[in-house]
Amino acid sequence: MTVWGAVDVDAAGEGGTLHVAARDVVTPLARERAEELGVTIAVGRSVTASPSPPPAGGALGRWAAAARGEGVPQDIRPPSGALYRRGAPLPDAVRPGRAGATGRVIIVGAGHVGMIAAMRLADADVFAEVVLVDIDEGRAAGIALDLTHTSALRGFATRVRHAGTVAEGGAADYVVITAGRAREPGMSRADLVDTNAAIVGDVAGKVAAISPRAVIVVVTNPLDEMTQHAWQASGFPSERVVGMAGLLDTARFQVLTALTGVARAARIDALALGSHGEEMVIPLSRATADGTALSRAIARTTLDAIVTRARGSGAEVVGLLKTAFMAPGTSAAQMVLAMAGNTGELMSAAVLARGEYGIRDVYVGLPVRLGPGGLREIVELELAPDELAALREAADRIQERVGALAGASS
Ligand code: NAI
Repeated sequence: MTVWGAVDVDAAGEGGTLHVAARDVVTPLARERAEELGVTIAVGRSVTASPSPPPAGGALGRWAAAARGEGVPQDIRPPSGALYRRGAPLPDAVRPGRAGATGRVIIVGAGHVGMIAAMRLADADVFAEVVLVDIDEGRAAGIALDLTHTSALRGFATRVRHAGTVAEGGAADYVVITAGRAREPGMSRADLVDTNAAIVGDVAGKVAAISPRAVIVVVTNPLDEMTQHAWQASGFPSERVVGMAGLLDTARFQVLTALTGVARAARIDALALGSHGEEMVIPLSRATADGTALSRAIARTTLDAIVTRARGSGAEVVGLLKTAFMAPGTSAAQMVLAMAGNTGELMSAAVLARGEYGIRDVYVGLPVRLGPGGLREIVELELAPDELAALREAADRIQERVGALAGASS
């Protein structure tokens, strides 16, 4: 991965083109400079810095088509917006006073996951305020104060405060729901369903009343069912209720694959789809390391073992630590930042399928692009027949569980 900065844009010259590879990072400052100079950023799988313009209809043409919303070819991705310039001005989408934006993120549930999400969001320094809400108000207050103390060390201006209720938190652009009971060693995610459904349903209803324009990111387990439940309880359009799991599961797969030495984790291109649990689907037909098919780089038995370990990674950490929160909290924050920054990164999230992949009316992990208003698009990738079948099977199982939940609560 190469990080392209403003100096690289300058080198491309006014009206020129900067060629970057699909997984490279273009810094926000470089993007701003590119806009100033009219430099085009062209993205392609095997393209590296080149002084010569791309062939007509090549990477540049395809990227331009993608930018116009004409579909993103499979070998083209927008430059990652993963690097935020700390202290950068708030994106329009979250600037207070702009089109009803509040500049505020509320995290409901100041437990382990909520604490890390708050830390990552405050550290990014793009929001005016991060509010931690918890029924254990003392805990929320303590974390808010402790986190505020780090602002001197980390240099962020985001205000961090606590509240005892969602109403006291105020209206927000984004609400992350981590409230609920966490898994204990030996528990499955499904064991949490009744307790957490009551909490998540109540919280989502309150969020809808206080923040009718917000995007809700659900983290509470069992994730797929709780996301669908929050959507129903909020009455929001489905674009504004998404679940965090696929980004985390993908990261776990990337890291475990990187441990084989094949490439750095960030150079492993893969997506974890399906459910957050047993029916997790990692389409190996699409997975690459440094652009090489993983199936060519790693023996199938090893790959299968990695998938199995990725699927069980949550339980593995809970077994050691009685909880898992650093990667989950970071993933939740990353989703919010991708939305606020409108990065268009391809990532996995639990969203309501409306016919994509032959799946309908159920929340399931799918490839998506997020924007300030939540779900921008579900991206339909070509999957191998067995992968597509596994994805549909995952959706069926989730639908059954959602049905059981609805039956139990009616
Ligand atoms: P935790 O027990 O540390 O924190 C949960 C917090 O929610 C507690 O502070 C509790 O007081 C608070 N809470 C409970 N009811 C509330 C309400 N009505 N309003 C406000 N706050 C309330 O749990 P942890 O480790 O932070 O996990 C949170 C949830 O996230 C769990 O359901 C866990 O299973 C889930 N999780 C999901 C992951 C994913 O990939 N989607 C990954 C890791 C955890």
